[in-house]
Amino acid sequence: MTAQAALRSDHADLLRQARLEAYSTPIEDFHPGAPRLFQSDTIWPWFERLRKEAPVHYCTKAPIEPYWSVTRYHDIMHVDTNHAIFSSDVSNGGIMIRDVPPGYEWPSFIAMDEPRHGEQRKTVSPMFTPDHLDEMAVLIRQRSAKVLDSLPRNETFNWVEKVSIELTTQMLATLFDFPFEERRRLTRWSDVSTALPKSGIVSSEDERRRELADCAETFGRMWKERQANPGRDLISMMAHSEATRHMTPDNLMGNLILLIVGGNDTTRNTMTASVLALNENPAEYQKLRDNPALIDTMVPEVIRWQTPLAHMRRTALVDTELGGQKIRKGDRVVMWYVSGNRDEEVIETPDAFIIDRKRPRIHLSFGFGIHRCVGMRLAELQLRIVWQEILKRFDRIEVVGEPKRVYSSFVRGYESLPVRIPG
Ligand code: HEM
Repeated sequence: MTAQAALRSDHADLLRQARLEAYSTPIEDFHPGAPRLFQSDTIWPWFERLRKEAPVHYCTKAPIEPYWSVTRYHDIMHVDTNHAIFSSDVSNGGIMIRDVPPGYEWPSFIAMDEPRHGEQRKTVSPMFTPDHLDEMAVLIRQRSAKVLDSLPRNETFNWVEKVSIELTTQMLATLFDFPFEERRRLTRWSDVSTALPKSGIVSSEDERRRELADCAETFGRMWKERQANPGRDLISMMAHSEATRHMTPDNLMGNLILLIVGGNDTTRNTMTASVLALNENPAEYQKLRDNPALIDTMVPEVIRWQTPLAHMRRTALVDTELGGQKIRKGDRVVMWYVSGNRDEEVIETPDAFIIDRKRPRIHLSFGFGIHRCVGMRLAELQLRIVWQEILKRFDRIEVVGEPKRVYSSFVRGYESLPVRIPG
């Protein structure tokens, strides 16, 4: 048996056990937001049962505050596109299943309602226009080529570290015009800001506070520099726009963390997922090698298959109804994009990874409505280019060991993926 086949069979065993557990647990006891289910990648039967039997489900038996789980595609769309009913605002708890902990209520435009959200979003959106992306494509291609050319042959290495983190961090440094040689500080701040207490990323709240204070101080300095000498970066854009130039330091910090995490974790984890998905589906990998033009449909399919942000949360502003359930003002409502992307009523054979789907872009991974991802075109561009460059160079990238997944029900990602490039 090849290493890949052995991995597939181990994971199939785990999933069989998870299915037994999911179908024998009373549905009122379900807590789909448990990070361990994401870390072991055994969340699927839990969501499958919720979609079938309790598509709008209230969890009261978790070690976190009670929350609604919305698991079907159309119900998720309903919540995401009704921002007058379902709030993202940090003052109501924010966008993650857990309320923002005291001391971290930094306003960022992803966690704001209208009209402030729209005003601040407009400030940074010129970074992601098609024309500006065309300009950036040249740089992205050069960097992808350089990183890929430096990879070892016939030797096991961690794809996450050497490729996914490296390329997305380089991009981030460009977006902020951050000192290039210090770029890994951005990666660290991204990890620290989203880490859960038991994730092992920070050893204490104190450590987290210290590191984020360093982030605030560094960017505070850059803000002052760019006020005087603007460039074409995100900090300069914010420092010189009417909507953001008088931001409080907390609002600046909130938007910086948003852009750092947005631009880093998500694309990084999709880059890793693409290698994993193609290894788990060798016939699809062969299709891609035979016809590299399929990169265009493969990229949105990986983004669906991975769903790098598993959920976004809202808070009900008024009493309302969804899927026959009465939601009360103040309730937490979690939209599980990761489940909606596997809704068999909307997506054919949703558990399969198929790189030439007819409508690959109908996935929910970028959200919908006013908060739909502002960086989505950049993310897709980076992924398309890296695969164009990979196919020019390597016949195969082989996954040779278990991926290590992140302990989180928000960021669906990987700490490591051991691979080998035969050469
Ligand atoms: C918003 C996913 C890449 C910046 C979002 C949302 C999701 C998402 C789910 C919230 C949507 C909602 O609430 O309806 C992703 C995925 C990516 C990705 C899956 C990659 C595969 C990026 C990149 C950037 C970025 C590369 C920027 C450098 C943002 C920002 C927002 C956002 C600033 C807030 C938009 C708003 O509130 O108006 N993203 N994202 N994202 N994303 Fe992304």
